[in-house]
Amino acid sequence: MEKKLKKLSKKVNYFLNNYLSKLNSSELITPMKYGLFPGGKKIRSKIIFDVGKIFNVKSKDLLILAASVEAIHAYSLIHDDLPCMDDDKLRRGKPSTHIKFGESTAILAGNSLLTTAFEILSDKNFKVEDKIKSRLINFLSRCSGHLGIAGGQYLDLSYEKKNVSLYKILNMELKKTGKLFEFCCLGPLLIKKNIKNLNSFSKIGKDIGLLFQIIDDLIDFKGETKLAGKKTKKDKKKGKATIISLLGHDNAVKYANKLKLNIYNKLKSHNKKADDLRETINFIMERNK
Ligand code: IPE
Ligand code: IPE
Ligand code: MG
Ligand code: MG
Ligand code: MG
Repeated sequence: MEKKLKKLSKKVNYFLNNYLSKLNSSELITPMKYGLFPGGKKIRSKIIFDVGKIFNVKSKDLLILAASVEAIHAYSLIHDDLPCMDDDKLRRGKPSTHIKFGESTAILAGNSLLTTAFEILSDKNFKVEDKIKSRLINFLSRCSGHLGIAGGQYLDLSYEKKNVSLYKILNMELKKTGKLFEFCCLGPLLIKKNIKNLNSFSKIGKDIGLLFQIIDDLIDFKGETKLAGKKTKKDKKKGKATIISLLGHDNAVKYANKLKLNIYNKLKSHNKKADDLRETINFIMERNK
């Protein structure tokens, strides 16, 4: 699995680097590339390719989806680390973008990566029907804005040091993390105009996102800064509302296992074709970074 992720990471980074290098240069390219490369685990890209495999989607199209998602993800991390957000100085094993380049540059590089995602999807080299293209762009916009990442990040910050119900925590995590995973699961289906499986893969995507965030919270709870590449044991200090802060460590693990079972049940009918996705889900559960 580590090997597969490395290979995919190379492919997605190559595409993104090539894409950015072809554009007219600007002063922001350097901080944008700093946030993007060498980059993280590329789990979201892996899920796009895993779902693409189940439905026989062309790898060229999947690569474009993956590059746009990783650009948005990198932007969200740059902003997440800002002093006005989580105030984190270490990201992906190196100083956060605002530590290296200053706050205003980090904000602008983040904004630029967000729009880069939509440049990539609307590019003429993405050879899918215009109707499909606009559906993908519309859906990714909704996953990123006030109903998705930005809205979830707002809730995350506003829930600090407060007693928050399970329902509210789940809704916050679904927005800040789950929606982008939902896009990773639905993007390949939209390309194939596969309406039949939209509902079940929407649910699978959200569940993977929730599962991913619970494991991220567990890594913060008991993980090593050196291994994780970001400062751990910070959520408690900041008073973050998480499933762990509400239900405790053991119940959070149980909740994650329940989500995994739900996902596996939904994948049953896809037999062996879904093995890669199952493997990725196991990796998400067992990771320590
Ligand atoms: C971290 O995401 C932020 C969350 C949504 C929990 P990742 O763990 O995927 O970060 P990278 O891309 O590997 O650095
Ligand atoms: C971040 O969640 C989710 C985003 C949308 C960026 P966290 O704040 O827990 O992510 P880390 O732990 O800093 O990577
Ligand atoms: Mg955060
Ligand atoms: Mg954070
Ligand atoms: Mg975290």
